[in-house]
Amino acid sequence: MSERAQFVTRLGAIAATVGSAVGLGNIWRFPYEAGVNGGGAFLLIYIGCVFLVGIPVIVSEFVIGRGTHKNVAGALKQLAPGTKWHWVSYMGIAASLMILSFYSVVCGWIVEYLFQAITGNLSGHSAGEYSAMFGGFVSHPWRPVLWTVLFLCINFWVLRRGIKRGIEKVSNFMMPILFLILLVFIVYALTLPGAADGLKFLFLPDFSQISPKVAIGAMGQAFFSLSIGLSCILTYASYFKDSDPLMRNATVVAVLDTLVALLSGIMIFPVVFSFGMQPEAGPKLVFEILPNIFQQLPGGYFWSVLFFLLLFFASITSTISMSEISISFFMEEHKMSRKKATSVNTGIALVFGSLCALSFGVLSDFTIFGKTLFDLFDYASSNIMLPLGGIFFAWFVGWYVDKRFLDDQLTNFGTSTVSVWRKPLMFCIRYFAPSVIIIIFLYGLGLFDALL
Ligand code: PHE
Repeated sequence: MSERAQFVTRLGAIAATVGSAVGLGNIWRFPYEAGVNGGGAFLLIYIGCVFLVGIPVIVSEFVIGRGTHKNVAGALKQLAPGTKWHWVSYMGIAASLMILSFYSVVCGWIVEYLFQAITGNLSGHSAGEYSAMFGGFVSHPWRPVLWTVLFLCINFWVLRRGIKRGIEKVSNFMMPILFLILLVFIVYALTLPGAADGLKFLFLPDFSQISPKVAIGAMGQAFFSLSIGLSCILTYASYFKDSDPLMRNATVVAVLDTLVALLSGIMIFPVVFSFGMQPEAGPKLVFEILPNIFQQLPGGYFWSVLFFLLLFFASITSTISMSEISISFFMEEHKMSRKKATSVNTGIALVFGSLCALSFGVLSDFTIFGKTLFDLFDYASSNIMLPLGGIFFAWFVGWYVDKRFLDDQLTNFGTSTVSVWRKPLMFCIRYFAPSVIIIIFLYGLGLFDALL
């Protein structure tokens, strides 16, 4: 263990885990998923999933990762020798590479917008012009690919510097600034005429909107946003110290991540309604809305550059965390050097990321199951593979691992007292979380329609 990296401080460990969770999932994906899935009804299921399914799965991943200080495959092999449990890790690794591929495309859009903000091209347009601008950019034959590749090169460079110097440092100081800047934008958004309609859309559930699609979307969003079900935070927890409090860390991560998503919704929807735009716009939603917010603010140039810069940092702390899954796997299970493992990870993402980058233009007609590659990677990983992974991790910790091992992890080897939350948490890990995921899956498959 001694030569394996660890996060230096407890705060560093939390900051890095929050850094993984908070990213485009909160600021880009949450508002657009809430928008296409009817607002309040989606939010209700989303929050239920975060607290009743998400926290139990986070703790399960923490227990496996911190308890073994190994990559996901190594951890499962150690805890369940001679079984097929480690196969779960392959699904997680595949999901991480799929997410990295399409996520890097959106990160590329961020870099393009940062570039446009710096060169002053982002102000002085009408709402329609912003839509046209975004449409023109994403369907361009090579520009989105260029930025995706550039982004992956930066990601590669950060990863090469290793766990402490690269990841921990960046995470520690970027997150609080992002939080503050969201608050500034919210103050502006809430003063717009019609802001209340946006808030109503987000917070007032219209129960008639609840459908299999909405439930699956909300559950997938919870998994995606918390970075769970693919062993991402399992891998981070393998760098935790034995004294880090797991249940408390899990709660802090879930609460902060949800708060950022909510803040982002409170910033976006008032603007959407105030400017008469469509909440169902999909992936392009925030890219059309944000420039409009900036140009109305005094010092718009400054705000736009700062915001895209912070968004860039928020997303890179997420991409390095998803890359770390396969890198730690290649290094520890296949004895690769960090450099080689990082190159393999980046190489795969370069190929699939470039293809995903073309999904809005040249390859928009190339569809599988009616979805472009970008949409397919997003849908299959977030809505199917991550929740499936969540069932496996919760089941593994709830029913399979040794009681003594679990006890040691939840009490930090007997050094902390047993929390009052332990019983409800174990109930959720063993019964509730796996059942909810299965019920939502069955509902999504239309099984209940057949019964009713
Ligand atoms: N949770 C990250 C976000 O919200 C995305 C992510 C998914 C990161 C899976 C790691 C693993 O942006």
